[in-house]
Amino acid sequence: MKIIFTRIALTFLFLLTVVSCTKEKKKRILNFPPTNLVTENLIPKPLKIIPTNGGFALDQFTAIYTTKNAAGYEEVAEFLAKKIKAKTDIDIQVNVDEIPGREGVIYINQSDSLELNTPEAYQIYITTDSVILNSNTAEGAFRGIQTLRQLIPEVSTDTLAEYPIWTIPTGKIIDSPNLGYRGSMLDVARHFFSVEDVKKYIDLLAYYKYNVLHLHLTDDQGWRIEIKSWPKLTEIGGSTEVGGESGGFFTQEDYKEIVAYAAEHFITIVPEVDMPGHTNAASVSYPFLNGNGKTPKLYEGTHVGFSTFDTRKDTVYSFINDVVREITEISPGPYFHVGGDESHVTKKNDYIYFMDKVVEIVKQHNKIPIGWDELATANVDSTSVAQYWGSKENAELAVNKGMKIIMSPAKKAYLDMEYDTESKFGLHWAAYIPTDSAYIWSPEAYDGIPLESILGVEAPLWSETISDISEAEYLAFPRAIGYSELSWSTEENRDWENYKVRLANQAPYLERMNVQYYPSPLIDWKKSKNTFEEIKKD
Ligand code: ACM
Repeated sequence: MKIIFTRIALTFLFLLTVVSCTKEKKKRILNFPPTNLVTENLIPKPLKIIPTNGGFALDQFTAIYTTKNAAGYEEVAEFLAKKIKAKTDIDIQVNVDEIPGREGVIYINQSDSLELNTPEAYQIYITTDSVILNSNTAEGAFRGIQTLRQLIPEVSTDTLAEYPIWTIPTGKIIDSPNLGYRGSMLDVARHFFSVEDVKKYIDLLAYYKYNVLHLHLTDDQGWRIEIKSWPKLTEIGGSTEVGGESGGFFTQEDYKEIVAYAAEHFITIVPEVDMPGHTNAASVSYPFLNGNGKTPKLYEGTHVGFSTFDTRKDTVYSFINDVVREITEISPGPYFHVGGDESHVTKKNDYIYFMDKVVEIVKQHNKIPIGWDELATANVDSTSVAQYWGSKENAELAVNKGMKIIMSPAKKAYLDMEYDTESKFGLHWAAYIPTDSAYIWSPEAYDGIPLESILGVEAPLWSETISDISEAEYLAFPRAIGYSELSWSTEENRDWENYKVRLANQAPYLERMNVQYYPSPLIDWKKSKNTFEEIKKD
């Protein structure tokens, strides 16, 4: 009897659900304005968009389903549900039991289609009834859900419905990245940034489909990563920063937390230990490292090029081996950055001897060495990567050695360059880089570096002039958004006039994320509520 009663109750509940969904369906169809997927404010611009001018209703009845037997898909769906909740306040369930008659379903599928020709490629088919996202890997699904997040309007769109609806334009999106390495660098050495700051930066990078965060962990002014076998590096070398503030450092647990958070966002952390120059903080901690018999003082200024390791001492290489070992043990990504820039007080022969040895140490720890473009002057080959920042000759040398190049030309890609003479923070030794200049160049055809040598683009944010995350945001945004398009989208799909409209429409997202972006006067910002200055005062 009890069972029969329960059955009746369940059937009634089921019918109620179907009836209510059917009832709501009429409303959705009636209230859809025409849409155009092509004019949506997507950044980076997808490879191909085919609009069908209808609308998919995201609402409280929507659910997400994923392929269950493919690693990572359910986590990607949970991530999407969390972000939808943050934006719309609706709770979307993932992989709940199918409810017959349910409408508005998002499917995230693993597909072996040959069209999905890179791990990050994805395709989205949006109809009035469903959103189907296909990708080869969870990474591709993750890039695809960033597109979906960007398609959900900031405010609900159907004012006639009894409950809020967010209309997603229908059509098809076919997308994959133009360049495989799309990074930004944060200099936590000149000024230290907390784990929470780094996580916020990761949130923002992920939304624009970046896949690398390079952490500049050591410099003259500070050593920011705990090395258990050499504890004074952080005890002494991490105790201050530019301007004499208190400094700080990541414990290995902190660093692991950053690495794990980045991995959840399909972002690889590239750790950098800059050497043989930029090493004052290390030599203050362990004076044998500099080989000149003097104990240097902690440095809180901003000059460069005055420090060096002793390149001819075995103990220096044992030290470096320990540092590389401890960091690589907690860095699952494929790269280790050895710096190598501006070693002005290291003799040329010593520099080459040193970089050759350090590159070998990194390889022994099964990582691919990356160095600033000066690395190309050592006896390195195609198994190391050069990061082009300043010297075209070095970049050419690297190309001739078969090395892959990360494009970070300071004149175009340095996030710490001032926008113009009015900029509140930044430097201008390479250039002033207004928002348009940051966008209008081709990393695939810059200074004659051939496309086949280019690994990708990285926008470094040096921190001599910025001491907290809001100051970092002022320099990074909006320019970092442009670099995402320069590295993901093809040249045919990049156009300043078109981009600047899409950029203007990022304002509500940046405001919601409490990003203190620079309100470039070149952009007609579509602010959602207050002016930028009002928000800043809050
Ligand atoms: C650099 O800007 N010294 C790489």
